[in-house]
Amino acid sequence: MDDLKVDLNFKGFTSTRLKIRRFRPEDAPSLQAYREDPEVAMYQYWSTCTLSEAQEFVETQARQTADIQGEWLQIAVECLHSKEHLGDIAFRTCPSSLDTTFFGASFSRRAQGKGYASEALAHLFYYLFEQRNKRRLVGITDCRNEASVRLLERLGFRREAHFIENLEFKGELVSEYLYALLRKDWPSSPAFRIYLQSRRENS
Ligand SMILES: CC(C)(COP(=O)(O)OP(=O)(O)OC[C@H]1O[C@@H](n2cnc3c(N)ncnc32)[C@H](O)[C@@H]1OP(=O)(O)O)[C@@H](O)C(=O)NCCC(=O)NCCS
Repeated sequence: MDDLKVDLNFKGFTSTRLKIRRFRPEDAPSLQAYREDPEVAMYQYWSTCTLSEAQEFVETQARQTADIQGEWLQIAVECLHSKEHLGDIAFRTCPSSLDTTFFGASFSRRAQGKGYASEALAHLFYYLFEQRNKRRLVGITDCRNEASVRLLERLGFRREAHFIENLEFKGELVSEYLYALLRKDWPSSPAFRIYLQSRRENS
């Protein structure tokens, strides 16, 4: 780990509809509710989530330093208007390459299909490319996860790899796609357009 590279001041971002912020203890029940939903959990590493697991998770993530190489930071996404906790996005810089970062997203079922994941991730990409100097962002998805594939393609990511039966996951062999976006393609990407459209003044 390179201590000089971590972001000790990370607070999150605000877009026109969303507050993308550090987790807080009061997020545990809403986190548990969407992690317990079998449709949200289907392609994720967890299957169930107790309240005490959710409490431990939010406490750990509230303390986690941003952009420690090789460690995930999960961030809560809240509706700016209603203050409802909608889901989370996450990022992890590659252990072997400081300029490459992986990311993911999970939203409660009722927060899906509204463009919130795209909006939150577009603001994360702005932070990673323009403030953290990343060169390549990577999303990996189970090939069966159609919503995730649509999300990555909507944001302008390029499918670079198709790994066939590369992983044993929840008792079966599954295949994955790897999608990436390079910093040089960011200014012309749909993700950058989403970022510009959902940028708040003074955020
Ligand atoms: C993957 C996941 C985050 C995608 O979320 P999503 O809500 O489909 O993605 P977006 O926020 O970009 O929403 C886009 C959808 O909202 C619709 N939409 C409605 N209003 C919109 C608006 N104002 N702006 C943009 N899109 C809007 C779009 O038409 C699109 O619908 P479509 O996918 O049917 O074409 C979500 O399915 C999820 O949480 N899944 C469970 C966890 C998971 O598997 N995560 C991926 C592995 S890390």
